[in-house]
Amino acid sequence: MNQLILSAEESNEIKSIVSELTKRFDSVEEKEFLNNSAVYARKLPERVHQFLNDFKQLEGSAGACLISGYPIDNGEIGDTPQHWKGKTGISATLEEEMILALFGALLGELIGWSTQQEGHLVHDVIPIQANEDSQLGTGSKTLLWWHTEDAFHPLRGDYLVLMCLRNPDNVPTTFACVDKTRLTEEQLDILFQPRYFIQPDESHSEAHRGMQHSVSDADDLLEASYAKLATMVDAPEALPVLFGARSLPYVRIDPYFMTTMPGDREAEEALEALVNQIEGNIFEEVLHPGSFLFIDNYRTVHGRKPFTARYDGTDRWLKRINITRDLRKSRASRPSVSSRIIY
Ligand SMILES: [Fe+2]
Repeated sequence: MNQLILSAEESNEIKSIVSELTKRFDSVEEKEFLNNSAVYARKLPERVHQFLNDFKQLEGSAGACLISGYPIDNGEIGDTPQHWKGKTGISATLEEEMILALFGALLGELIGWSTQQEGHLVHDVIPIQANEDSQLGTGSKTLLWWHTEDAFHPLRGDYLVLMCLRNPDNVPTTFACVDKTRLTEEQLDILFQPRYFIQPDESHSEAHRGMQHSVSDADDLLEASYAKLATMVDAPEALPVLFGARSLPYVRIDPYFMTTMPGDREAEEALEALVNQIEGNIFEEVLHPGSFLFIDNYRTVHGRKPFTARYDGTDRWLKRINITRDLRKSRASRPSVSSRIIY
């Protein structure tokens, strides 16, 4: 995997850009910040521009890349939160969230979901005690099965970016690029056909609904959003697993939440072959504080190894954002031109 290690000078440049921005904005969710993030990102170091441009344009075989070496002040970021619910005031990690957003702006536009983490754009990936055994980013004891992020949704992001703030037990993030799979012509034929169903993952379910919402006047829209999700559960659309170029396909896969038509053995077997190959190509990457993992969500699946959470404020803590290359394709599901939340 390609890696860019920031020099001390580059980290200082980034810090000075962000220290100006944190004086002007209380949150990365402020409209003016989001509308201008590509402008602010122009000041980022040239090497960061080139590195992420290559990642975006060349679609290299790793399907992921890493920027590391940004200094994180373990004291200043405060304790790892116990939950993502009910955030108030200015985030103690505003600086880090802004850097994440600016890096993301070099790949596309930040988007979020009304049904995830109270409609926030920057998610906390932290162990939550009540979710210990769940297939969630906030689980811990169970292996988080590898998946395409938000695979069930047609408006899922093109990229997923994870920033590590803390990972004291060296918990590995797992990932694999579909480019490395070798399938037969018959398997390719089947996987390119709409013979699969993907249920929404648990992070979007009403069981994980928050108490407040980042957009306070959007209650009706949120209800409609949950109604849409219910339809996706009750009457899911049949989807292909592979799409794009047959010679180097894109993938949309979340085995834990997938089914085929009853009795479609051919489809099951083709999926099984793909799953086994991806499984054989899984890499593990231990993210360290100050590193950013960029995942191409069209080509690379990701997951997490099980671990024992501490729940004492020192747990593994990542920040997560979703990036789309084309904001317009979700316009019908966003309440305004500048809204980044998909309902
Ligand atoms: Fe994920």
